[in-house]
Amino acid sequence: MAKAVLGIIGGSGVYELPGISDLREEQLSSPWGEPSDILRRGRIGTTEVVFLPRHGRGHRYSPSDINYRANIDILKRAGVTDLISVSACGAFKPELFPGSFVLVDQFVDRTNKRETSFFGRGCVAHVPMAHPVGPLLQRRIADAATEEGIFFRLGGTYVCIEGPQFSTYAESLTYKGLGYDVIGMTAMPEAKLAREAEITYATIAMVTDFDCWHPEHDDVDVAAVVAVAKDNASRVAKLIARIARDFPAEHELCPARSDRALDGAIMTAPSA
Ligand code: ADE
Repeated sequence: MAKAVLGIIGGSGVYELPGISDLREEQLSSPWGEPSDILRRGRIGTTEVVFLPRHGRGHRYSPSDINYRANIDILKRAGVTDLISVSACGAFKPELFPGSFVLVDQFVDRTNKRETSFFGRGCVAHVPMAHPVGPLLQRRIADAATEEGIFFRLGGTYVCIEGPQFSTYAESLTYKGLGYDVIGMTAMPEAKLAREAEITYATIAMVTDFDCWHPEHDDVDVAAVVAVAKDNASRVAKLIARIARDFPAEHELCPARSDRALDGAIMTAPSA
């Protein structure tokens, strides 16, 4: 069984991860291009952790410009077996007030100009995506959130839009009407690529706003997202620290088969 290495991708407002001991920087290059930043590697308790800020320090990459393939590739090269992605999002449910966390288990991909696969011409693969989140990893996040007294909702559907513009009122009502729970700009194709890389993946969606459907709340803007995300950063750090402290030394086999997603997925004949 593989040694567990816990990867963390920080989203808006989460550019550092305090509490890592033996901290060192690791500059890995990728044949897929420029990753968002160098990796920060160290330990929390006895667990090895690797941190990557998705937008780069100083928030330099917009959601469409992030090289998701390079990011997942360097995390894989760094030995990451389990990956927690933190993403700011808007909510479509009144009970998901800003400041709450949603442990989503489904994604709808509405992005349209991103590289979504490591595979293509020359080597064709179709990995299963029915259950994109690792249930054991998600359970660990939920248990840690309970211990830390953080309000969260277990399960939900995250619709990922291309951005960088926020949604129109009609789009917001449409997504709400379709029953989606939260909206963001970054979890896709990250979740797809993590699956192709056989890394177990889970998302902590931090609600920062009610998008623009809510009659009693202001329409989302950057100031609102930044204010809530900044406010959340210390709670995210506490949550990650708790997850890491309680993490098993060995990677737990994923019931969704995320860690062996390529078994039977490659269509191209070995000699082709
Ligand atoms: N990130 C944070 N809030 C968002 C929203 N309302 N729409 C898209 N991405 C977001």
